[in-house]
Amino acid sequence: PMRPLGDAYGRVATDLRVSLTDRCNLRCQYCMPAEGLDWLPRADVLTDEETLRLIRVGVTRLGITTVRLTGGEPLLRRDLEWLVAAIADLDPAPAIALTTNGIGLAERAATLAAAGLTRINISLDTLDPQTFKQITRRPRLADVLAGVEASVAAGLVPVKINTVLLRGVNDHEAYPLLEWALRTGVQLRFIEQMPLDAQHAWSRQEMITADEIRERLSAHVTLVEDEGDRARRGSAPAELFRVRGTEHMDGVEGDDHRVGIIASVSKPFCGSCDRVRLTADGQLRNCLFARTESDLRATLRAGATDEELAEQWVRAVATKRPGHGIDDPSFLQPDRPMSAIGG
Ligand code: GTP
Ligand code: 5AD
Ligand code: SF4
Repeated sequence: PMRPLGDAYGRVATDLRVSLTDRCNLRCQYCMPAEGLDWLPRADVLTDEETLRLIRVGVTRLGITTVRLTGGEPLLRRDLEWLVAAIADLDPAPAIALTTNGIGLAERAATLAAAGLTRINISLDTLDPQTFKQITRRPRLADVLAGVEASVAAGLVPVKINTVLLRGVNDHEAYPLLEWALRTGVQLRFIEQMPLDAQHAWSRQEMITADEIRERLSAHVTLVEDEGDRARRGSAPAELFRVRGTEHMDGVEGDDHRVGIIASVSKPFCGSCDRVRLTADGQLRNCLFARTESDLRATLRAGATDEELAEQWVRAVATKRPGHGIDDPSFLQPDRPMSAIGG
C-alpha cells in the first residue's frame, strides 16, 4: 500500500526531482563562476542502480507520480536513456520529465522520447550568440536551438523554455524571445532569479521581477489571466497568461498562445509545493532552500531494505518547513548552489 509523503502543513510530495550530476558544460553567470566548482567526488555520486533503487522506492511505495531528472546537466550522464527506460518500466509508471540546457539534445531527443521521456524543459536566455556567450561563457547557442527543434520534432510537447532575465544583459530580449517561442511552438516561461548562485552575488534590487516582465511584454502584446489556467495550475511554479494581439507578430499563427512567469521570489508558491529533491550524492532535500538533508545514500549503502528507506523518507518529508522564508530577517542562502541541488 502507498504511504503518502505528507508534511505538517497538509502538503503531499508527489513530484520527485532527481539531480543526476552536479557537473555542467556551461557556466551561466547566475549559477557558477567561470572556473567551475569543486565537483562531487565520483564515489559519492549514486550509481545508476542506486539512483533507480531510490526512485523505485518513491514510485512504488510513497506515491511519487512524476520524476524530473535534472543536474547540473543531466545529459552528461551517458546512460540517461537506460535510466529513463528503467523508470518508465516501473509499476505504476510515473511521468518522466527532463530539465536540461539542451547541449547534445539534437542527437538524443528522439531516443529519449522512445525510451519513455514524457516532458522536457530547456534553459535558454537569449537568441543572440554574443549574449549567449556572455551569459553561459560558452559559444553554444546553435547547439541549444538545434536541441529545441529536435525536441519539438520528437513530440515532447509542450516543450518548455526556461528564461532568466538579467538586468542590462538580456532583459531587452523578453519580447523577441516570446515572438521566437510562439513561432517555434514552444512554451516560454520567465523565471525570477533566485539566491542560489555559488558566488552569492544575487541581489533583490537587481532581480527582474515578475511585474517588470509583464510590463515589458505588455508594450507589445496583451497578457490576460485565464480562469481555466488558474484552476489547472495546482502546484506548478509557473503562472500562465494568455497572449492576445499576436496578429502583427512575425510567423505567428492562431490565437491560442501562452507565456509563463515563475515568480519564486516576489510571489512564492510554497503553500502548494508538492516537490521533494534527491541530490546526485543521495541526499533528500525538502526544499531548494533547505538547510538540512537526509542521507539516503548512507542508509542504502549500509544495506537497508526498501521498507527502511521508505521509512526514513517519510520521516524526512514530515519535517518540511512551510516555505523558503526569503523575506525573513533570518533567511540564509543554502550551502549548496543550484547546480548541486537540481533546479
Ligand atoms: P513543470 O512541471 O514542467 O512546470 O516543471 P517545473 O517548472 O517545476 O520545472 P523546471 O525544472 O523547468 O523549473 C523551472 C524553474 O522553476 C526553475 O528555476 C526552478 O528552480 C523553479 N522551481 C521549480 N520548483 C521550484 C520550487 O519548488 N521552488 C522554487 N522556489 N522554485 C522552483
Ligand atoms: N535563479 C533562477 N533560476 C535559475 N536557474 C539556474 N540558476 C538559477 C537562479 N539562480 C534556472 C536554469 C534552469 C532552471 C532549472 O533553473 O536556467 O532553467
Ligand atoms: Fe517548495 Fe521550497 Fe520551492 Fe517553496 S522554495 S516551492 S517550499 S521547494
